[in-house]
Amino acid sequence: MTKGLSPRPREGNPPPRIVETPAGMLNTIGLQNVGVDAFIRDKLPRLRGYDTLVIANVFGETEAEYVEVCRKLDQAEGVAAIELNVSCPNTEQGGMIFGNDATALEAITAASRKATRLPLIVKLSPNVTDIRETARAAVDGGADILSLVNTFVGMAIDVERRRPVLKKVCGGLSGPAIRPLAVWMTWQVRQAVDVPLIGMGGIVTAADALEFILAGASAVQVGTANFIHPDGSIRVLRELEDWLADRSVETLAELIGSGHPKAPA
Ligand SMILES: Cc1cc2nc3c(=O)[nH]c(=O)nc-3n(C[C@H](O)[C@H](O)[C@H](O)COP(=O)(O)O)c2cc1C
Repeated sequence: MTKGLSPRPREGNPPPRIVETPAGMLNTIGLQNVGVDAFIRDKLPRLRGYDTLVIANVFGETEAEYVEVCRKLDQAEGVAAIELNVSCPNTEQGGMIFGNDATALEAITAASRKATRLPLIVKLSPNVTDIRETARAAVDGGADILSLVNTFVGMAIDVERRRPVLKKVCGGLSGPAIRPLAVWMTWQVRQAVDVPLIGMGGIVTAADALEFILAGASAVQVGTANFIHPDGSIRVLRELEDWLADRSVETLAELIGSGHPKAPA
């Protein structure tokens, strides 16, 4: 997975923009990135040399920006799929977050769907009342796959300074603190739509990843754990292989959704 890519480079937010919390972290990086053109020119050639699929994470402040980035990545060699980060303010609609509104989410998904032939993943925001509604909207808009969840909005206050710790006041909470919330959302979305799911939120060990698989995800992503160990994702993968071998489970696919009470044990 790449860092979120936008039409033009972005500097991101001023520091402090990361703070450790109990069992997690708050970040307000502000979608810093080199821009889609520099990504295709400078980074993609090197990524093509690795034996792995490259999925590009994409965002914009307007529908036209999402379309522009999707079109450019569609033409580039070595991108396996596009994931839309819809946790970005819609500047045309007064700063409302695209992914927190089912109507806006369906529209942005449909516009992006028309801009690329690549598999389209829509990454759901957890900052909604009922995630099944936005899940259905993304599928109605043409998403092939859903990924979930992005970070939960939160804040931390420095009691000595009596000021918010983060310069931008609030940030996105990630890490083990959010895992039970994210597993529950994966479980709910699994009952609401038929497309494959990619689960994430606080995965550090194989058992954490398996919670999402048993809840109905076909794959997982690992984010914050890489701040603890730069090879955090590889560790999860190796542990998973051992876990499956120890129990004579041939493929992870056998386990997808099998945590449901009605599934065969
Ligand atoms: C420092 C940091 C930067 C992130 N940047 C992005 C991003 O560019 N695009 C995106 O869709 N999600 C981004 N996320 C969210 C993660 O991809 C993930 O959804 C979330 O952190 C939950 O997973 P985790 O607990 O394994 O980190 C970021 C998270 C962190 C901690």
